[in-house]
Amino acid sequence: MCGIVGYVGRENCTDVLIDALSKLEYRGYDSAGIAVFENGKIRVEKAKGRLQNLDEKMNLEGRPFGNCGIGHTRWATHGEPSHINSHPHSGRRVTLVHNGIIENYMELKAFLEGKGYHFESQTDTETVAKLIDYYYQDDPLEALNKALPQVRGAYALAILFEGFPDRLYAVRKESPLIVGLGCGGENFVASDIPAILKYTNRYYLLEQDEVALVTAGQVVVTDLAGNPIEKQEQVADWDIDAAEKGGFAHFMLKEIHEQPKAFRNTISPRIRDGAIQFENGLDDVLRAAKRLHVVACGTAMHAGIVGKYLIESLARVPVDVDLASEFRYRNPILEKEDLAVIISQSGETADTLAALRLAKSQGIRTLAIVNVVGSSIAREADYVLYTWAGPEIAVASTKAYTVQLAVMYLLAFQLGRLRGQLDEAAYANYLTELMQTPEKIEKLLSQSGAIANLAVDYREAQNMFFIGRGLDYALSQEGSLKLKEISYIYSEAYAAGELKHGTISLIVEGIPVVALATQRDLLEKMISNVREVRARGAKVLLFCFEGTQVSADLANHVIYLPQGSDLFAPLLSIVPLQLFAYHIAEQRGCDVDKPRNLAKSVTVE
Ligand code: AGP
Repeated sequence: MCGIVGYVGRENCTDVLIDALSKLEYRGYDSAGIAVFENGKIRVEKAKGRLQNLDEKMNLEGRPFGNCGIGHTRWATHGEPSHINSHPHSGRRVTLVHNGIIENYMELKAFLEGKGYHFESQTDTETVAKLIDYYYQDDPLEALNKALPQVRGAYALAILFEGFPDRLYAVRKESPLIVGLGCGGENFVASDIPAILKYTNRYYLLEQDEVALVTAGQVVVTDLAGNPIEKQEQVADWDIDAAEKGGFAHFMLKEIHEQPKAFRNTISPRIRDGAIQFENGLDDVLRAAKRLHVVACGTAMHAGIVGKYLIESLARVPVDVDLASEFRYRNPILEKEDLAVIISQSGETADTLAALRLAKSQGIRTLAIVNVVGSSIAREADYVLYTWAGPEIAVASTKAYTVQLAVMYLLAFQLGRLRGQLDEAAYANYLTELMQTPEKIEKLLSQSGAIANLAVDYREAQNMFFIGRGLDYALSQEGSLKLKEISYIYSEAYAAGELKHGTISLIVEGIPVVALATQRDLLEKMISNVREVRARGAKVLLFCFEGTQVSADLANHVIYLPQGSDLFAPLLSIVPLQLFAYHIAEQRGCDVDKPRNLAKSVTVE
């Protein structure tokens, strides 16, 4: 999604803005632009495509020079990716960059055309720039106060006003925005922490309709009417290395390898004296909940599906899993004693945030499982369990998924114990095995080279199937998403027992089928399903535990998981599945960290 940066200080802001924007490239974008105060006038530079295009264009034409400016990476929503549609957008004396969507932009455009404004782009953003400009006499805050109440939708804005070359303004509603507090003589604005981490880890989180007036020497936050607001300084504990590749070819590969650490960081602080200790009195809520509604998008929703299997089987508490984009519009039945469990890496996904708000508006309690500290979902939920994966830069989620699973296991064990479904011995055994998981993941990571070799045999595929039963089916949905989003091979996850009800007609000679067969009580049935696809010519990559008897003709390749109980298989199988997707995509020459059309944080519907 779009990224915003702003800088005011002693440095030449063009360099700072480009550098900061480069840290937001992972979010996904298709054009970039900056606006800089140069000799008191606002100079705008834009280019379609990668940030590098903008940088090279400015090198040819002469780089803007100034100490105050704003920058943007755009992920097209209204209007194609093009020079004209790129941000910044301007009125006569106002220039801004915008994240979010303006819902009533057609109405505003008609109003402004009536006032003599001429529009160049197809964007919704240009209407806000011109609307603020329309109200701008000599007082920026007054202009914002008159314009923004007329705007419906979501916005994070960084704004330059002609006449004030040493300041920038930032304001937000729904879309996130932070103000970075520099170490004397400079300050920043950004939509995301990694953009400013090289310069500072101290920041203010702007709340709805708060306005920040940012100069080199100070940051003043007010409401739209100008009433001062005292802000609490936040400190990001992500270090700068976390946002660098650290010798790996891609962020995705680095993040796959960070999973043992992320897993330990997520579970260790919550297991003390042989028991799970959740923060904030969550046990009482878990004890009381009659039904759980897990709501999320994409990979996070897949973690919820695994969670459903775990919680229903260990705690006998019913769990519904919904895609947030469906949940919010399907008028779900929510009872007073229910608990909504909202899962999100970014904590900013628009549909997931809306689902959380819907659950709250219906009076049910909400628990957020979130990776980004201080994100909107984390702040608005009644209870939060943070996953401690550190920043995830690659668009394809890997370590964030694994730690979401880790929290699902903790929840299932704790619910099982609190509901009297798990006795002390079983509970203790599960916790022991959970704590052994990072070592097993390390063992699987050492197979990366072997999986790269195996990927050669699968990388030319046009279609692929992932099949499994029970927890394997739950996990296969994530394995399939990983492959398709980064390699562009069409793939589908199927419950192995369901294949015969239609989809087996697609199984033809040579089609790859990734068969997960880790659930021992379902093994015979699963093997029969594998035989069915083998009989039709499928090329089978089988996953099973070490020690499973596999006859030579059952599969073309086998990936063995370190010994463990069936229940823990998803935490292990996911690693070779991620590596499989990664190596195939890399060998196909795909842009692994920034797959086409995708954005890291989906802040629009
Ligand atoms: C998958 O690799 C994606 N990154 C995507 O499906 C993601 O999980 C989804 O957009 C939800 O994002 P969130 O966890 O930040 O809410």
